[in-house]
Amino acid sequence: MRRREFLQLTAAAAPLAALTTIRGDSTAAPTAELSRATASRPDQQRLVAMIGRAEIGQGQHAEVWTVSDGAIQPIASTIRTRTGDTVEIEFENALTEPTILHWHGLHVPEAADGHPRLAIDPGTTYRYRFPVSNRAGTYWYHAHPHRRTAEQVYRGMAGLFLVADADEDALGLPAGEREIPLILQDRRMTAEGEFAFGPVMHERMEGFLGDTTFGNGIRQPVMNVDSALHRLRVVNATGARIYRVALSTEAPMTLIGGDGGLLPTPVSVDHVDLGTGERVDLLVDFSGLSVGSRVMLRSLPFEAPGGMGRMRGMGGGMAGGAAQGAALDLAEFVVTREVQERPSAMKRFPAIRPLERAEADRGREFRFMSAMMRHTINGRAFEMDRTDIEVPFGSTEIWRFVNDSEFPHPVHVHEVQFQVLTRQGGRNQRFPWEAGWKDTVLVFPGEAVEVIARFDRHRGRYLMHCHNLVHEDLGMMANFSIV
Ligand code: C2O
Ligand code: CU
Ligand code: CU
Repeated sequence: MRRREFLQLTAAAAPLAALTTIRGDSTAAPTAELSRATASRPDQQRLVAMIGRAEIGQGQHAEVWTVSDGAIQPIASTIRTRTGDTVEIEFENALTEPTILHWHGLHVPEAADGHPRLAIDPGTTYRYRFPVSNRAGTYWYHAHPHRRTAEQVYRGMAGLFLVADADEDALGLPAGEREIPLILQDRRMTAEGEFAFGPVMHERMEGFLGDTTFGNGIRQPVMNVDSALHRLRVVNATGARIYRVALSTEAPMTLIGGDGGLLPTPVSVDHVDLGTGERVDLLVDFSGLSVGSRVMLRSLPFEAPGGMGRMRGMGGGMAGGAAQGAALDLAEFVVTREVQERPSAMKRFPAIRPLERAEADRGREFRFMSAMMRHTINGRAFEMDRTDIEVPFGSTEIWRFVNDSEFPHPVHVHEVQFQVLTRQGGRNQRFPWEAGWKDTVLVFPGEAVEVIARFDRHRGRYLMHCHNLVHEDLGMMANFSIV
């Protein structure tokens, strides 16, 4: 039995009586490497960024950098909230370098957004307080200091921030042991079994790719399941890897949600593509499988844009890491209990009102360029205190992301959720997993992707950036102010 820590923060009835922390021990069966159960412990409201040694599966231990409400663990604590809750967190930096936490996908006040200028020194703390105003969805949080995001996230500073609401409750989705949140990362291991990090020259262009999959901090995770419907909530927390997520059985999955929660209608898919920073919510059906059946969640091979996979193939003495687009096993499910359950009919999903092109007050274009060891947006690299764009509060804008380089760029906007309008060039379509609210969208070389958003939640300075974490650290990031 493996221990996993969970943190649950719930609504503040009175300002400081705010927090309920929930954590607990796994009840997973012996071969399961991932645990899901929680139990209550109402006295914690502190998250600490820390370095220590944690078990990463199969009895192996490695140094991890993590964010925890308790003991060291291989992945950051899971935070569960409901829409309308108030989150209050005292965040302590027990690393040996500055850091700050960003709540990816959430509408938060400027002071709670984790902009790199807010990074705190070792030994100091930062107080977050914000209302959860997003709809139900699979959000996440991660380290966001300038120039150090890639390594801090790689070493483990990423966690789930799950939001529930009444609309989601009404659907009766698989819950408890049948809800499986899965944070995916790819790493390289040293001969001593530690995490290797250090982008060499070409990786400062392509990004840092690993060859070993981790799920929730566990290497090549295996998980016990019932022969029933499960809800799989997948976060791509890698630095650069794009996953083409599918089942080894080739069975279809039901895509029910994306970055910003449930899609307007569920759709059957045989795979989904997931760039760095993106999330999908999937229903996976193991019913009819007998005890002992094994199903692998895997990333299918695909033709990756960019020159580096090719160069690697040519044997240029590359430092390692599986090529972008290589086939990879992600997580394995083993059926350990047969149940007879008739799946209940899918209920109606909450509607999403489409933002119409005609509603836009203006449009803007952002060109993403990677060349000669520089990563820029509209020709400029990030500067901490320069405001690149001013967006009038309350306005609706269409942002057009153009990829002028030979590498994919997963483009992310803080503070807002947007809708994808069009993709022109390249893959030339909007995919089913891009149908709902999103905060990150994958833009391949030669593509122009238009998104529409309304900037009406908070005023302040936020970020828009490429979520390839090496690109981000090297400056493919811009400040926008909602004024
Ligand atoms: Cu998930 Cu600014 O990032
Ligand atoms: Cu973000
Ligand atoms: Cu990029």
